[in-house]
Amino acid sequence: MNKMLDVRLTVNGKAHEGRCEPRTLLADFLRDDLSLTGTHVGCEHGVCGACTILFNGEATRSCIMFAVQADGADIITVEGIAKDGVLHPLQQAFHEHHGLQCGFCTPGMLIVALDFLRVNPSPSEAEVREALSAVLCRCTGYQNIVKAVMAAAQSMRRDQG
Ligand code: FES
Ligand code: FES
Repeated sequence: MNKMLDVRLTVNGKAHEGRCEPRTLLADFLRDDLSLTGTHVGCEHGVCGACTILFNGEATRSCIMFAVQADGADIITVEGIAKDGVLHPLQQAFHEHHGLQCGFCTPGMLIVALDFLRVNPSPSEAEVREALSAVLCRCTGYQNIVKAVMAAAQSMRRDQG
């Protein structure tokens, strides 16, 4: 059996400790060891974006990192973006603009959009489309996802206002 290693990290503001094999992927560690199954695993090759999380503040694919590489990291998963039971403006906008169908890509879309709007709070539609190209959606044709991100950007600007 492979050696087990300690991993200590902060996820959604809460400290976690675990033990895993060196080969355990961060996406699997989040889902299987921490029961945070909102982070989805599609391709496991860094292509589809479904597994995207915020890693020390930046959108990162958790399927192409080992859990041990996240030792000491600060991670936000899709479970951490609503606050006190209130949906994040992005989640609210996805809901209002029908920005999802099966929902498989949605955690990745939300996290990528969150990181994108942090650096570009007033994007053009073309910029939103380019940012969202980091995540593959098989259902929606992207139209309503783009609308949702544009609407969320507007409401976040208003909130910061
Ligand atoms: S599961 Fe990580 S990019 Fe597809
Ligand atoms: S909503 Fe089904 S993959 Fe995007």
